[in-house]
Amino acid sequence: MNKKSLLLIFLVFSLIFALVGCVEKKEYNIDDYFLELTYKDDFKILQLTDIHFNNKDDHQIHYKFMDLTIKDANADLIVVTGDLFTFADKKTAIELFEFIDSYGIPWTVCFGNHDEQAYFSIDWLTDLLNHYGNNCLFKDIKDDNVHGRSNFVINLMDGNNIHTQIIVMDSNKLNFSYFGYDYIKESQILWYERVVNRAKELNGGNIVESILYFHIPLPEIDDAWAKAEEGSADAILESGEKRENACPPLNNTNFFNKILELGSTKAINTGHDHVNNFRIKYKGIYLTYGIKATSYIYYDDDMLGGLSLTVKRDHSLEYTDYFHTYSEVE
Ligand SMILES: [Fe+2]
Repeated sequence: MNKKSLLLIFLVFSLIFALVGCVEKKEYNIDDYFLELTYKDDFKILQLTDIHFNNKDDHQIHYKFMDLTIKDANADLIVVTGDLFTFADKKTAIELFEFIDSYGIPWTVCFGNHDEQAYFSIDWLTDLLNHYGNNCLFKDIKDDNVHGRSNFVINLMDGNNIHTQIIVMDSNKLNFSYFGYDYIKESQILWYERVVNRAKELNGGNIVESILYFHIPLPEIDDAWAKAEEGSADAILESGEKRENACPPLNNTNFFNKILELGSTKAINTGHDHVNNFRIKYKGIYLTYGIKATSYIYYDDDMLGGLSLTVKRDHSLEYTDYFHTYSEVE
């Protein structure tokens, strides 16, 4: 091999190493994902889901419609669990966030599988939310080695103690593939474990209870429904209906088993399936669908509005359904 060939090989390897270096994700400090909000008695979280705004329509009637639910609930925090947009542009996104922010209530967002189907990049959207202002509790760390773009925690602080953790995660993208819908990745499950263990450490070794919010339900949603229908003691249907097949991912990364093992999370709140709104207490954990917030894409007239979850001081949880129809605003 001559000198020229050796030099070429050296340059090719240098380039590969440089590129690998560029895409390498950073190890993270778990405390960097923790945001704080003050806990108060009967802390109420309003979940809105699957708004699906596009760039074409005048959304005024939908703002009036969502206003009914937001005023009804009078919540302490609003969580929008994904699919805020389908082919929206920057103006639509800014208008929607201005609307939510106008209530002066703390609010947050996780992404759904449609939120990257837009006339903006997911980088633009996360930057906007990362720097939105005081009411918006959102934190995406771009170059971490945790998969997804909306993994963070809102610690409800009772003095110096964490009363409850609200853990927000990205159930990932419009990656409809061999594995069906996208799924929560191993790096996110490891991140979740670190979140729970860090809270336990901060709480003198005692587990801190938590509530999860993300978009696509876990594969166990089907087991929970089947067992509830069989009358299993492990799966109690608390409320709601199943009007369509659930669409969880086909690939099960065992997140639910990790949740059971760690013993912190008491409720997993999702959206995604527009005409399911059931909640089942499965193996001691609520598997819960929200209630769709607007009439975009597909919906049922009598299954629109929002869902709240009240976190009591004694850590018991209480759900409230808010149903509205568009006849109230037309
Ligand atoms: Fe949706």
